[in-house]
Formats: sequence, C-alpha cells, structure tokens
Amino acid sequence: MNVLMVGDIVGPDAVGCLVERLPGLRRDRDVDLVIANAENCAVSGPVPWTGFGMTVELVERLLAGGVDVITSGNYGVDGHEAEAVHAYPRVLRPLNLPDDVPRKGVLILEAGGETTTVVNLGSKTAVMPRALSLYESLLAAGREGNVIVDLHGDSAWEKMEFATAVDGRVAAVLGTHTHEPTMNLHVLPGGTALVVDVGMTGPTGSPGGFPLTHFSAEMRGEDPGALPPFELSSDPTTLGAVLVRIEGGKTLHIERDFDPEAVRQMKARAGRDISMGGPELAAQAIKAGLVDEWHLFVTPIVVGGGKRSLPDDVRVKLELLDERRFEGAVVHLHYRTRT
Ligand SMILES: [Fe+2]
Repeated sequence: MNVLMVGDIVGPDAVGCLVERLPGLRRDRDVDLVIANAENCAVSGPVPWTGFGMTVELVERLLAGGVDVITSGNYGVDGHEAEAVHAYPRVLRPLNLPDDVPRKGVLILEAGGETTTVVNLGSKTAVMPRALSLYESLLAAGREGNVIVDLHGDSAWEKMEFATAVDGRVAAVLGTHTHEPTMNLHVLPGGTALVVDVGMTGPTGSPGGFPLTHFSAEMRGEDPGALPPFELSSDPTTLGAVLVRIEGGKTLHIERDFDPEAVRQMKARAGRDISMGGPELAAQAIKAGLVDEWHLFVTPIVVGGGKRSLPDDVRVKLELLDERRFEGAVVHLHYRTRT
C-alpha cells in the first residue's frame, strides 16, 4: 500500500491548497491512505505559543477532501473548538500523555485492502513536558497490520533512536513538529522507514510559515505580548509530504513528494539558476519538464546497480554547450534542453 504523510499544515490556506491537490496526488501516486498532521491549521490566538489548533470547519474540509487520519501534537487541544474537533474518530492527539488527558492516539483502519494502525506520539521536546515514554507507550498500544507512527518532536536524535528501537515492529516513523523538512529518508534494516521531519505544508516566506517575531522578542528579553497578533505569511504554499510504500508491515521505499508547481513558481521568482541534485529529485524534475540545463559527470568506473536518475517514458533532446576533461579522466558534459 502507498501512504502519503503530510507534515504540519499551517493555516487555512494550506488546508485549501492540500485539498485541491489531493485528488491528483491520490490518482497519480496511487495513494491508499493519507495521514496529515493538522495541529496548526487554524489560528486561534494572538501569540504563536497558544494561537494554533484546529477547527471543526477545517477538520471537515480535510476529511471531505481526502485526508483519512488527522494527527496532532502540542497544539492538539488548542483553540475553543478542541473538544468538538476530538469528537471526530479520525482526529488523533498524542497517545503518550498522562491519564488526566483524554487519550486518542491510535486508530486502526482498513485502507487499500490492508489493516493499518496509525499511532500519534508526542515528545517532551515538542513542548509536551508531561509526555510519557515513547517506547513503552507504543508497545502498550493495540496494534494491527501496518503500523505507522507520527512522532511529534523536536529532537532529531530522539526520533532516530526511537525508530531504531522499534525497527521491524513498525512500518514507518514519520517525524513532525519542526516544520523544517529533513533531507534524508531512511529504511532501517528491519524495514522501518524514518524521516526526522516531513516538513510543513504551509506558506513559504518565513521559517515555520509565520513571522517568528514573538519568539525573537522573548529571546531578547522583551515582552512578546506587546507586539501585534502574529499573522501567517501570505507567500505560496509548499507541500511537505512523503510517500511510503509498505508491504507486509515493512517499508519497501520512501520518497519525498515533489511539487512541480512550487518549483515553477520558484524559478519565476528566483531570477537566477536553481540547481537540483540527487537521483530521485532529478528524475521528478526531468519528468515534470522543469530542467533547462544538464550537468553530467562521467566517471571512468563501472559500479553497476544504484538508483536511476533518468525516469521511464521521457524523451528529451539535448544540445551540447560545453565539455571538459578533468584529471583522472572524469568528463563534465553541459547540455541545454532543446525546445
Ligand atoms: Fe507542534
């Protein structure tokens, strides 16, 4: 089965953007299950510490728009509609919170003909000081079929250590909370996928999707409450998501979702060259017709195997612009896409 995990949705516009894109993503990427962390989808107050959360209207838009499970974290119960929001069976909050907090951190459902368990865990590092042990909470949870964990936390090492501790027992540990996507996508030896942070689905233009002036005021020892209410950036929305292919409770492959429209907008705004590397990213850019110039380095070693950077069913005519030979017989070929 193919699972699309969408990272922290920041603001109502990001909800609209995701809902618009989901039918195409579901169709084009053969997606069976969509999980989205939506704890930041609503703005509910003047300062960012307590000013996010979810509303019934936005949750309904997400569920009607193709999201199967909504996860959350430290903002899970923020906003005055929190109780109504958590009345929805498909809206989760971290499982590993103390007994006085209603726990609803596990959902077992059928998707793509398979049973899947989605577990929402939260870390102390993500402003949840009362969070209980991640490892023990996972083991105590009822689990069936493919197990997918949204681990909402701030510490990369904690996520890496947790994923290693549960390697082979869960299909994927998918990190959320920092809003900053991490580059490396792992499949551990036992078949557990790990991404430290999926990254936000929200407005570009400032780190986190909103001006961090309240945080910086506090850091400088000033009163953040004296500042005007925070506002989300109005720049175009980026989609932070990974696609995980799971079979028999283990991950076969994990990749980042590629957003051709966002790259097109970036190209239009940049006014200079944008370089893109790595076989998977390059393949998707080639497929989307976004590559204007090509730099190929031919090394005189035959290794065999490896990841393919040239996608299937694509034919592009190139014009040679430059050719250079380096010491050690490495050759650099610089091509332009012929139009
Ligand atoms: Fe968070």
